[in-house]
Amino acid sequence: MREYPSDRVDVRSDTVTQPTTAMRKVMEVAVVGDDVLGDDPSVIELQNRLAKMFGKEAALFVASGTMANAIALRTHTVPGDEIICDKTAHIYKYEGGGYAALCGASISLVEGNRGLMTADQVKKAIRKAEGSGSHYPDGTLVCVENTSNLGGGACYTQEALDEIAAVAKANGCATHIDGARIFNASVATGVDVARMCRDYDSVSICLSKGLGAPVGSVLVGSRDFIAKAHRWRKMFGGGWRQAGVLAVAGLYALDHHIDRLAEDHIRAKKVAESINSMDNFSVDLEAVQSNLVYVNCKIPAAEVVASLAKHGIDMFDLPYNRVRVAIHLHITDDDVDRIISAFAAQ
Ligand SMILES: Cc1ncc(COP(=O)(O)O)c(C=O)c1O
Repeated sequence: MREYPSDRVDVRSDTVTQPTTAMRKVMEVAVVGDDVLGDDPSVIELQNRLAKMFGKEAALFVASGTMANAIALRTHTVPGDEIICDKTAHIYKYEGGGYAALCGASISLVEGNRGLMTADQVKKAIRKAEGSGSHYPDGTLVCVENTSNLGGGACYTQEALDEIAAVAKANGCATHIDGARIFNASVATGVDVARMCRDYDSVSICLSKGLGAPVGSVLVGSRDFIAKAHRWRKMFGGGWRQAGVLAVAGLYALDHHIDRLAEDHIRAKKVAESINSMDNFSVDLEAVQSNLVYVNCKIPAAEVVASLAKHGIDMFDLPYNRVRVAIHLHITDDDVDRIISAFAAQ
């Protein structure tokens, strides 16, 4: 599927996807209401659908993945609490320090592998105020990211997810999954999302990444959790009105864009293996389990980005002299060949 308004191959992120013609058609005729008043039928349908898919009682449609995570963290914690996550977690690195500014929480970082923590590491990272003579903050929330973005798109095994949830519960912590790319994880591992998230209290799900909706994320959890989250969404200014126009795009994506993620994963693997065989680049092939390919450059990454741009390929250069290729629904087999040839020309 190309349907992209230019012939450039934009692999900066899977967030650059544009609504397809078919998706725009359903948006045009969306039945809407006022979601702040709770009567937008399309939003209600999206929320009910995702709550059911994830085996949770309720859901809340919000503007972004960052907002879904911020609301989740704020709902789970009180100021002075501590959140346990991997050192590469999006909530820690790329959400503007929201955990500190909005929650008043600190973070206990885990040295995971490819962004994936073990239950043992999580256990060691949980600190409790009680028994510490008030020296420690209160570790009350464990947050995992699946797939792990900075981990190269790596996925947790179900066993690891279950063990982490068990350790968290045993130590009085709530559990949250940053599932910005949870459907990529589900397609890559073959594990249904309800099973995957069974032991977790909340999950944030992005519709606007691999799934290709223009805007929106959904937070799922218990009825009580979502009722509290609803209040935080209001306080964060996230109450929205005729949001059904966006919700129907999400519903369309759930119907049409989940299974096809497997194609993105095959293309990502091809890109990764081809680039890894080139002298100037290397890729951690074991991390490439979904749609992301982080490329280590032996020449300056900024020069690679500038040169690839001349071949019509758009990417960002990243810390540690890396670039990332994010495969998504507009990237075709021809585009994959263009990407590989452009790297080969470096
Ligand atoms: C793992 C992860 N979580 C959350 C987000 C935030 O999503 P948004 O850009 O919609 O705020 C991203 C964005 O790339 C992400 O990669």
